[in-house]
Amino acid sequence: MQKLAIQGGARLNGEVRISGAKNAALPIMCASLLSADDVRLSNLPDMHDVATMAKLLQQMGVSVALSPQAATFNAGHVDKLEAPYDMVKTMRAAILVLGPLLTRFGEARVSLPGGCAIGSRPVDLHIKGLQAMGAEIHIEHGYIHATAKRLRGARILFDLVSVTGTENLMMAAVLADGVTTLENAAREPEVVDLANCLIAMGAKIDGAGSDTITIRGVDSLHGAHHRVMPDRIESGTFLVAAAATGGRITLSEARADILDSVLDKLREAGARIDVSGSHITLEMLRRPAAVNLRTAPYPAFPTDMQAQFMALNTIAEGSAMVVETIFENRFMHVQELRRLGAQIDVEGNTAIIKGCAQLEGATIMATDLRASACLVIAGLVAQGETIVDRIYHLDRGYEHIEAKLSALGAQIRRI
Ligand code: EPZ
Repeated sequence: MQKLAIQGGARLNGEVRISGAKNAALPIMCASLLSADDVRLSNLPDMHDVATMAKLLQQMGVSVALSPQAATFNAGHVDKLEAPYDMVKTMRAAILVLGPLLTRFGEARVSLPGGCAIGSRPVDLHIKGLQAMGAEIHIEHGYIHATAKRLRGARILFDLVSVTGTENLMMAAVLADGVTTLENAAREPEVVDLANCLIAMGAKIDGAGSDTITIRGVDSLHGAHHRVMPDRIESGTFLVAAAATGGRITLSEARADILDSVLDKLREAGARIDVSGSHITLEMLRRPAAVNLRTAPYPAFPTDMQAQFMALNTIAEGSAMVVETIFENRFMHVQELRRLGAQIDVEGNTAIIKGCAQLEGATIMATDLRASACLVIAGLVAQGETIVDRIYHLDRGYEHIEAKLSALGAQIRRI
């Protein structure tokens, strides 16, 4: 099991390039199943989940030509319409092959994704939407078995906002017969990036980025080249790390226009932030002020930034309240932060953090992707050495994070 050893105390300084967004790359890779032509993706991040998704597509018969930060996919000879349990259990996003397989080939067998550390993560809204479009769906032996001669357009109202639910049904709708409207759809920028790629492939989509998306089915899609958008959560993670260590960093190839809620909170914590084009500079000249947070669907404060901000609050001036409204168990990082001396009380989906002047290094354990980022940030500010165990969680969703942090002056090494 690989670990990270972090010597706390260094202020982060310098410039870091932001990678392509994991949560845009994963659905967009699945979109390659919708065409028999080449789909070429650039700015593809080099991380474990992207490699897993490439393997999943390859075992279906998709040809994948990988090159540094780019790949060409061709689904002209798909011969297996299945996503097996052993691949789905490590990456829930594999559910995103369901819509494309069903709408292009009329059949799909996808393992039910298990739960994960942050919650049960059901996919009932994905299934309900496909049934509304005429799919026959049976759940047997832990697999979703879906068939449909041809999906037909439908009006689908989401009980609650689901990012991959919106993405799966948007992909199912692009080759369906007729018009589909997705209401109470997710507005996340990654949904918009997927829609832009699908439109480049010939899909007819209006309203992506709003809560109502209209898709007019076409008979087939052609190939395209798409550059994956920058990762807003990686951006936020580095900005919080710089704020926590009292440093000054510049992000390059980033997008500030999709980070408003995060930048607002960082300014509230006392950071000075300047934006020019694709560069975001943050400078923190004082101890952070504690900031209250309440996670909610985009454009409100992202749940994927909740753990990172909690690390900032542990050493901030004052007390803060953090309310997690999206997932039922996304406070796994709390007990690990307590091992570093953080003062946190949890009541249901609310955590109260009382800022303390100093954390003490210790051995701690990552439990999920964003919790591990939180623990790395805490290690950067704790006194002495912090060992973060089970960092495979980190490698799933961050590209070369310790190399990037070292380049910013962090004392961090993989052991
Ligand atoms: C996406 O997960 C992201 N993953 C998550 O990022 C992110 O935390 C989440 O959206 C919320 O923004 C990818 O895009 C690959 P949801 P997703 O469906 O789509 C409930 C990371 O760290 N729900 O928007 O799985 C669900 O239980 C990951 O990069 C149902 O009840 O999340 C949750 O409470 C973690 N039934 C809420 O909706 C369904 O059918 C939001 O889930 C679907 C979802």
